Amino acid sequence: MNKNGEFRLVERLDGAAVRPITVSIDGRPVPALAGESVLSVLLSQGEKGICKNSHGLVSGAYCGMGICFCCLVRVDGREKQRACMTAVADGMTVETRRSLSDLDACLVAEHEVAA
Ligand code: FES
Repeated sequence: MNKNGEFRLVERLDGAAVRPITVSIDGRPVPALAGESVLSVLLSQGEKGICKNSHGLVSGAYCGMGICFCCLVRVDGREKQRACMTAVADGMTVETRRSLSDLDACLVAEHEVAA
């Protein structure tokens, strides 16, 4: 946790410098740090609604470790990428709240996005 109370990458375990980069989130340029996850960047922006399930309901990340598939986003045109398992890269484009088919629905059915 950094001094602002955020859970973001502040230093690397290998001692390498943390490099600031810019990614695009739903068309907006957003500052990020190379090596942090897409989910970390989304949460740093206050974005809790990550994807849309088969019933049209917006879901948020649930497990944060690649298990629930509740954080699926489109990354550089590739559909169904887990935001929690994808490291950001400079210039990356991320699209959230994309509609998923029944087979791609979040495994934690109908959980709500925390306010
Ligand atoms: S939050 Fe569960 S897979 Fe990403």
